[in-house]
Amino acid sequence: MAETQKWTKKLAKEFEVPLFLKDAVLTPVIIEELGNIKGKRAVDLGCGSGYFSRKMVARGARVVGVDRNKHQLDLALRKSTRNIRYLKGDIIRTHLPAASFDLALLNLVNVEIPSTSTVIKVFKNTRGWLKRNGTLVIGDVHPHNLGKGSAADSFLPSSGKDYFDNGSKWHSESYRIDGKKLKFYPNYHYTIEFLVNTLIETGFRLERMHEIPYKNEGFPIGLVLVARKE
Ligand SMILES: C[S@@+](CC[C@H](N)C(=O)[O-])C[C@H]1O[C@@H](n2cnc3c(N)ncnc32)[C@H](O)[C@@H]1O
Repeated sequence: MAETQKWTKKLAKEFEVPLFLKDAVLTPVIIEELGNIKGKRAVDLGCGSGYFSRKMVARGARVVGVDRNKHQLDLALRKSTRNIRYLKGDIIRTHLPAASFDLALLNLVNVEIPSTSTVIKVFKNTRGWLKRNGTLVIGDVHPHNLGKGSAADSFLPSSGKDYFDNGSKWHSESYRIDGKKLKFYPNYHYTIEFLVNTLIETGFRLERMHEIPYKNEGFPIGLVLVARKE
């Protein structure tokens, strides 16, 4: 079995404090891309402690959050509100009802998917759970953020060699807004070419892409892809 990030109770709790990458870089763009979701059915894949599930419900959606980690889900359940249902499950294997969601969100989850074949599986599964013309929004660490040393979030070499080492393993360090550094290992790196072509090959049409910097560092650290089920 491929090695994956261990979400201990401590790390799940530490991840609840805002992070520059998630809160300052990715969130504003994702919220803008979600647009008007009043009355929409959304699935938050790898929902963690429910950060985006709650944001989507606050905007009028009905949300199913799926995560395989007990500690993350315990935190999510504590803050659960009307119109959110949390399920414990692995998005590589979970069976959700087919063609039943208008919207799927995959935020900071690809970095924890341990192989190119499992990324393909996750995109295929997601396509199956979406209604026709349903939208998939993906938020990720930007794949060019390798060894760049951003003050907000950095991908550092592990066994991964370089940008073209698709599916390789890296360490990452992400800063919370209170200055604390959180370390993640392993995180997996996928090239933009692989992510975009996999979306196309699994039956999505790419609608928009955002490359988002942190302040004026001059390189992107966040990537948001918006795709529609064909
Ligand atoms: C970095 S956290 C992001 C959480 C949330 N999406 C957010 O934006 O706050 C990644 C989450 O993905 C979950 N995850 C990773 N691989 C998964 C899988 N195969 N099935 C279900 N959950 C998964 C982890 O348990 C973890 O809670």
